[in-house]
Amino acid sequence: MHAIAGFRSQDLVILEDEFKAASSKFVLMTDDGTAGKKGLVTDALKELIERGEKYDEVITIGPLIMMKFVCALTKQYGIKTVASMNPIMIDGTGMCGCCRLTVGGKTVFACVDGPDFDGHQIDFDEAMARGDMYKSFETKKREEVCNLFKKEVQ
Ligand code: FES
Repeated sequence: MHAIAGFRSQDLVILEDEFKAASSKFVLMTDDGTAGKKGLVTDALKELIERGEKYDEVITIGPLIMMKFVCALTKQYGIKTVASMNPIMIDGTGMCGCCRLTVGGKTVFACVDGPDFDGHQIDFDEAMARGDMYKSFETKKREEVCNLFKKEVQ
């Protein structure tokens, strides 16, 4: 089993020893190149595939944008890919509705019907749009809190 893990920078790297222990090949990637190789997990995956590694299946877990591009890449090479939609789950009981997504044209809930789905069937754009639905509200609230904090400090 090969593992590729990506982080923004060295100070955010976690479980490196565990990844190494659990895989026959481990590739560490960072956005800024402060640990491992500089680049994205998709860069590493593409390099391995083009170097001749054969994969029966790819499992992707992480931010939606990363999973979207991993799935787009593996689709090009015809590699079965499972994406874990845990990142969009909130209560995990089927009650909140936050994990609703479209897979293969059908509406499903990550916590009840998944969380693992055929990555090539997931509508990642819709899932990401749903995640951004309250972005302006969240930004406004964060700024309000920050402004209050600034007043308390003064
Ligand atoms: S996480 Fe709330 S319905 Fe699935």
